[in-house]
Amino acid sequence: MPYQRIGIIGGTGLTRLEGPNITVRHDINTVLGTPSGSIHEGFWQGREVLFMARHGHPHAVPPHKVNYRANLLALQEAGAEAILAVNAVGGIHADMGAGALVIPDQLIDLTWGRESTFFDGSYQPLDHIDFTEPFDAGLRRALVAAAAALALPVSDFGVVGVTQGPRLETTAEVNYLERIGCDLVGMTSMPEAVLARELGIPYASVCLVVNPAAGRSDTEITMADIQAVLDSGMDKVRDLLAAVLPS
Ligand code: HPA
Repeated sequence: MPYQRIGIIGGTGLTRLEGPNITVRHDINTVLGTPSGSIHEGFWQGREVLFMARHGHPHAVPPHKVNYRANLLALQEAGAEAILAVNAVGGIHADMGAGALVIPDQLIDLTWGRESTFFDGSYQPLDHIDFTEPFDAGLRRALVAAAAALALPVSDFGVVGVTQGPRLETTAEVNYLERIGCDLVGMTSMPEAVLARELGIPYASVCLVVNPAAGRSDTEITMADIQAVLDSGMDKVRDLLAAVLPS
């Protein structure tokens, strides 16, 4: 990992990063508004880590109301050289059941009404950026290699369909997502990934599948079931993040 200061954006189930010694709390207000919460800076595995909880701590900001632009600007201001995002998702692909870890390589954005660019003609002039590969290849390789070193099974591919939420999908919507090529469904990869790209900050995601997507199991999706998967799964995510940080 050629970066010293890594930003970690924790999602549902990861609102705090236990382990690092917090040395600085950054409370940053940006010209584009207030981030979801403070950025906690600390040392973890000898690396400087900047941790932000995407939904705030305690978890309160819904996916469509997160000020993704403020979060990204704040991480940039705090000095993040690269960003590792953690996303809880639903699984569509047959091999991506509850508890699976996926390092996605592609996404399809189905969100709407979110402030999704810095190049909006008012904060910054209009520009069109390349987004062919939405996740940084080097960071993805580092995550996959770290998982292999830990003998932690991960999928090294996956297309995330990003929906508006906060409700979960209908069966027909998940069938549609599958037909258009989605392996996973989540609510937060966009516009986060593109905003990082617009700022020139390498960005990759660790997805934890916390439920079979709608219509992919016989039972109703309950928050209690999701919580049970989060409780065990986030330990694996923490292990993976800790392992990827040393060079
Ligand atoms: N759909 C969308 N987002 C999600 C899901 C889901 O099933 N599970 C966790 N985040």
